[in-house]
Amino acid sequence: METTASQDKFQQIIQVAQGFYSRKDRAHDLEHALRVREWGKKLAQAEGADTAVIELAALLHDIGRSGAVEKTHAESSASLAVTILQKNGYSEDVVQQVKEAIISHSREAGHEPKTLEAKILYDADKLDFVGAIGLARLFTLAGAEGWTLVGENSCEEFYRAKISTYREHLFTKTAKAYFDPLFLYMEGFWQELHAERLKLSLSGQASNV
Ligand SMILES: [Fe+2]
Ligand SMILES: [Fe+2]
Repeated sequence: METTASQDKFQQIIQVAQGFYSRKDRAHDLEHALRVREWGKKLAQAEGADTAVIELAALLHDIGRSGAVEKTHAESSASLAVTILQKNGYSEDVVQQVKEAIISHSREAGHEPKTLEAKILYDADKLDFVGAIGLARLFTLAGAEGWTLVGENSCEEFYRAKISTYREHLFTKTAKAYFDPLFLYMEGFWQELHAERLKLSLSGQASNV
């Protein structure tokens, strides 16, 4: 169980993190970080990992998205996290574990998650892109990117190219077990969407709206 002192410490980190998360990119805002934290806690408890490291990494994992200074947002977030945690008095061991997890939570930086905590952060982040929440995030992202529903540069294209490949890259058994029903829900959504388009004789046409 968390002590009051450690909860206060997380609260400080949440306040600092809030300043970094963009209010424009609602697919990667503080709410996303808080959900990833909750997924991370569930996975950490089931897999026997260091929960505190995962919570800190989850809260800070996307802070470098707005105004990224390094090559990738994962590297920017990791650098910022190191500074924040050092300022807040975390041990160098914790700081390095959090850095390692954040830098490898996205494949774009080319860092493979090596520690159990890094693997769990990676998995927790993907679990926030499935289910009803995943769909909501997808459409939020689509609004910002100007994607259509189906066709080229669309929500469905992103779903097929990215989200539907997540399962094969998940590291933990626990994450796979959570992933499957949420992914099935999404698959059902796309079937329903295509059935509705078929009824409107729109099947096969890209959407322009
Ligand atoms: Fe990220
Ligand atoms: Fe994320």
